[in-house]
Amino acid sequence: MNFHVLTLFPDMIIDGLNTSITGRAIKNGCLSVEAVNIRDYANNKHMKVDDYPYGGGAGLVMQAAPVCAAYDSLVQKIGKKPRVVYMTPQGYTFNQKMAQDFAKEDDLVILCGHYEGIDERALERIVTDYVSIGDYVLTGGELPAMVVIDTVSRLVPGVLHNSESAETESFENGLLEYPQYTRPEVFEGKKVPDVLLSGHHANVEKWRLEKSIERTKKYRPDLYEEYCRKQSGT
Ligand code: ADE
Repeated sequence: MNFHVLTLFPDMIIDGLNTSITGRAIKNGCLSVEAVNIRDYANNKHMKVDDYPYGGGAGLVMQAAPVCAAYDSLVQKIGKKPRVVYMTPQGYTFNQKMAQDFAKEDDLVILCGHYEGIDERALERIVTDYVSIGDYVLTGGELPAMVVIDTVSRLVPGVLHNSESAETESFENGLLEYPQYTRPEVFEGKKVPDVLLSGHHANVEKWRLEKSIERTKKYRPDLYEEYCRKQSGT
């Protein structure tokens, strides 16, 4: 899968994703991440890409022309009109289902805003999906873009190895994940739960489900309610 990020801070994207599991997937060819610097498409000698908002107010707004020119060059390169995700607090909240949907694309363009956002006319022309990563405001769309790329990447075939399987983790079954333990058997006087040492697979699964339900009820009552509704078939 190929990610193309339109940004004023390409180093943030490249440096942030070239490590750990995404870095390995880029090296072995499962993923590519290209950061396109919107400033390279400025149409003035000062390479200015922002200006004051019409109607007044604080901050600067990114201009439509360089954003659209950077997008047009990507369309040329990809050879078809791609899906374009704009990272903004004014979007649908990102979730695992959205990530699964994005993972079906061969090419995904992610547009990062800065300052007070991007001229609406550019957004109307190129954006297909408006996505927020939560109810808080960051200084720009680069960290949110990395959140989306990381989440989608682990669903791309070949990115995770068997031991890192994406299947049993939180949200795939609508519940938060159960607690995990590794050696030693006793740490600061606290012992690993006996059932996990028993070798009784069915009992381990039963215990994990109970713990998942307990955690979900405590931390995410909204998900717990949905889980109960599904279990009762209503
Ligand atoms: N840009 C600034 N804040 C954001 C958020 N919460 N989600 C996505 N993009 C953003």
